[in-house]
Amino acid sequence: MSTSDLFSSEPSPAELAAELRAVLHHHAHRYYTLDDPEIPDAEYDRLFQELQALETAHPELLTPDSPTQRVIGTVLDGFTPVRHAVPMLSINTETDTEPTGARNFDTRVRRALGLTAADGPVGYVAELKFDGLAMSLRYEAGALVQAATRGDGEVGEDVTNNIKTIGQVPLRLPAKAPPVLEVRGEVYMRRDDFDALNEKQRAKIAAGAKGEKTFVNPRNAAAGAVRQLDSRIAAQRPLSFFAYGLGQITLPEQGGPVFDSHFDLLMQLKAWGFPVAEQTTLAQGADELIAFHQRIGAARDQLPYDIDGVVYKVNSLAQQRQLGFVTREPRWAVAHKYPAQEQLTTVLAIDVQVGRTGKLTPVAKLAPVFVGNVTVTNATLHNEDEARRKDVRVGDTVIVRRAGDVIPEVVAVLPEKRPEGAQVFTMPQVCPVCGSDAVREEGEVDHRCTGGLFCGAQRKEAFLHFAHRRAVEIEGLGDKLVEQLVDAGVVKTLPDLYRLGFAALASLDRMADKSAQNIVAALEKSKHTTLPRFLFGLGIRHVGETTAKDLARHFGRLDGIMDASVEQLLEVNDVGPVVAQSVRTFFDQPHNREVVEQLRACGLTWEEGEPAERAVLPLAGKTFVLTGTFPTLSRDQAKDLLEAAGAKVAGSVSKKTDYVVAGAEAGSKLDKAQALGVPVLDEAGMLALLGQPQG
Ligand code: IVH
Repeated sequence: MSTSDLFSSEPSPAELAAELRAVLHHHAHRYYTLDDPEIPDAEYDRLFQELQALETAHPELLTPDSPTQRVIGTVLDGFTPVRHAVPMLSINTETDTEPTGARNFDTRVRRALGLTAADGPVGYVAELKFDGLAMSLRYEAGALVQAATRGDGEVGEDVTNNIKTIGQVPLRLPAKAPPVLEVRGEVYMRRDDFDALNEKQRAKIAAGAKGEKTFVNPRNAAAGAVRQLDSRIAAQRPLSFFAYGLGQITLPEQGGPVFDSHFDLLMQLKAWGFPVAEQTTLAQGADELIAFHQRIGAARDQLPYDIDGVVYKVNSLAQQRQLGFVTREPRWAVAHKYPAQEQLTTVLAIDVQVGRTGKLTPVAKLAPVFVGNVTVTNATLHNEDEARRKDVRVGDTVIVRRAGDVIPEVVAVLPEKRPEGAQVFTMPQVCPVCGSDAVREEGEVDHRCTGGLFCGAQRKEAFLHFAHRRAVEIEGLGDKLVEQLVDAGVVKTLPDLYRLGFAALASLDRMADKSAQNIVAALEKSKHTTLPRFLFGLGIRHVGETTAKDLARHFGRLDGIMDASVEQLLEVNDVGPVVAQSVRTFFDQPHNREVVEQLRACGLTWEEGEPAERAVLPLAGKTFVLTGTFPTLSRDQAKDLLEAAGAKVAGSVSKKTDYVVAGAEAGSKLDKAQALGVPVLDEAGMLALLGQPQG
């Protein structure tokens, strides 16, 4: 959001301040009281800083109720207010995300302590800045008696019942703990717990549950759980806890413990059973703070929970006392942020991209936004269901998130910023690249282009598939050559391959004459193929090698398959509705029929036969096993011949095997056949059985 779009004409500073205050009040309420923020933290911070700068420049505009003048957060009806025995402070935030942020803090501390270069480095504790919500846990006589939110820092809410559901929060302390102890820390939700929770919420919503929603981020979900009026619901929201400080504690005069340093205090809390983050460490001077900031920054995305920065605290409690406070913030601590992982931007368009396998993916084109340390201009919407669930529309203002190397995503839409008339996104009915029908099959989440061979986006994949050893087999037409041919634009459709000729091939980069000759020969050879190979090579979705053979055997000729109705296709062995529909859709595309016709015109031939009902398959019902190397046929060729004659070719020998065909260097399969008394043939014997001339 930009404040400039709040006004039609240039606002006066007073108008701008009033407007910013109103906007900030609104968002503070959403965030702190309703646990349902509409904008990312970074955006709130930006607006807040804009108001602060304005008030600094025009002190006469400052009002006592300005959001800059008070600690926000109010008590929700339903929770008992709790006055904190020791106020819950906030920390000054260093928004400079560069190492200089740590150095600035160290400089301020040294100056306030009156230290000179001769005094050596200040000792600090470096901690993580957890992205959850602050909690004060009060123990009396070793028992947890109260858990309270921060509220406005003076008065919070009693959420004891909800906090008791957190397994990591001790309900009782060891005997040696002081009679009064308030532990301050952060309640948060792990990312895996958050994902699982949202998954459950989505299922509830899908099942028609009223009043359920998904959560924008783990912090938001944690806050919602903590402030759940029904603690049975809170118990189902998986929360975690880290301790980072103290509130009230029995005084030393009354037998309470004496701590010299913040680190000792944390170690004692750990010994009493509180979780303290393992990364918490001692650091000497600015250099070690910087090293910590960098080290944690690099590992941030591997943590199982969100952090938005690190916190540095002066370790010596004597020095902390000496430093004291400025308004509500201690001078001895600072939060050093990392670049925000969520930002606002607008959706300029929703494009649909087509992948190598024909998958259609909707992608939001965004006004460029700097988030998670890079400028983001695209965010995938994955598929139709996801796009619908998020209801992203062109013109929308959205929250974009990019964490680590994870691809950027649209987290949520700001519905109140939606321009009038914004249209619901729908997946196109045709492929945006080739214009063929785009279909979403039953039970699938993705739409796919049915253009196959014809679709530019799928071209390389389609060529490679067609040329595959088990398809039409064009020897030498591999990855690199296909890439070259397609990128150079010399082949667009499969028939183009057969029209290439030697000259065009030889003129390609790094193509020797000899290699070009080999390719020409391989193309020539590939023209004599079989119907199953050709059918498989077309790359019809769901039509693998076996299905191609079944179809070929059943129909005998290609035209029969191309013109078969879904019902007729369903009569084929092992062909179900998904395959039948896929075959039908493929041949319904005029482009695909055209490709087939042109391939035929280029000289591709195969033997066609009679439809299965009328054909007599000599080896129907017989099972063969092949082993060893044959003198003239490859294994694949032998398999094709046997299957075309109705035989099954199995991988291992059993009593059910009718014949084993053994070539040179046949191994254990031959032994087994002999042991079981299964007839053994050589290649010539097999060909004789097939009624084929030998040679
Ligand atoms: S210390 C006197 N340490 O950040 C200092 N706060 O404004 C009191 N936070 O909402 C806070 N991690 O809940 C401290 N390691 C950490 C923290 C931390 C997160 C939160 C805290 C509060 C905000 C500080």
